[in-house]
Amino acid sequence: METPDRRYAQGVCIWFTGLSASGKSTTAEMLERLVLERRRRVTMLDGDVVRTNLSKGLGFSKEDRDLNIRRIGFVASEIVRHGGFVVCAAISPYRAVRDEVRGMMEKGRFIEVYVDTPIRVCEQRDPKGLYVQARQGRLKGFTGIDDPYEPPLQAEITLDTVANSEEENARLILDYLIQRGLLDGDIRAPSPKVP
Ligand code: ADX
Repeated sequence: METPDRRYAQGVCIWFTGLSASGKSTTAEMLERLVLERRRRVTMLDGDVVRTNLSKGLGFSKEDRDLNIRRIGFVASEIVRHGGFVVCAAISPYRAVRDEVRGMMEKGRFIEVYVDTPIRVCEQRDPKGLYVQARQGRLKGFTGIDDPYEPPLQAEITLDTVANSEEENARLILDYLIQRGLLDGDIRAPSPKVP
């Protein structure tokens, strides 16, 4: 019998950070598809979704944002500890709390992915019309407008969503994981059904 290669059951957390409408969720979803093709299950913790359940009721003050990120980080670190693959996609604007979450995981398991989309591009996209509201002063404390965003100083991966498609970006992350032995690169055919 083939011995299973334990490396491929290693826990890993892909942590997307970037402005609203930078492309975190779309890249995360593309990555999820590519990882599923390689027969690893993925837990997705998306800021917009987390705020409807785990972080329901939290606002956008620094305290609330940090609490949101700590909650996501706690769940992610448990998943990583048990050998799971977790993808987190929240603005996570404050460097200190992102680093705190990094410290909750074993070295090498927290992969910070900076979605480095210029704010003018995010504003042009503005899928929820929130930038317009923020510019008009109808929405206060919006990240990048009148609230801070602290870019990572040493992200493992930085993505350009203007030059690259979401699939190209997701493949960059995939290659990073495969190169480091955190993911099996083979797309294996599903096991044949026993008659
Ligand atoms: S975080 O700062 O706590 O990491 P999170 O990613 O969960 O933020 O939620 C961000 C989403 O909430 C945005 O994509 C946007 O749709 C919405 N949102 C509403 N108000 C704000 C605000 N003041 N700043 C940023 N995003 C906001």
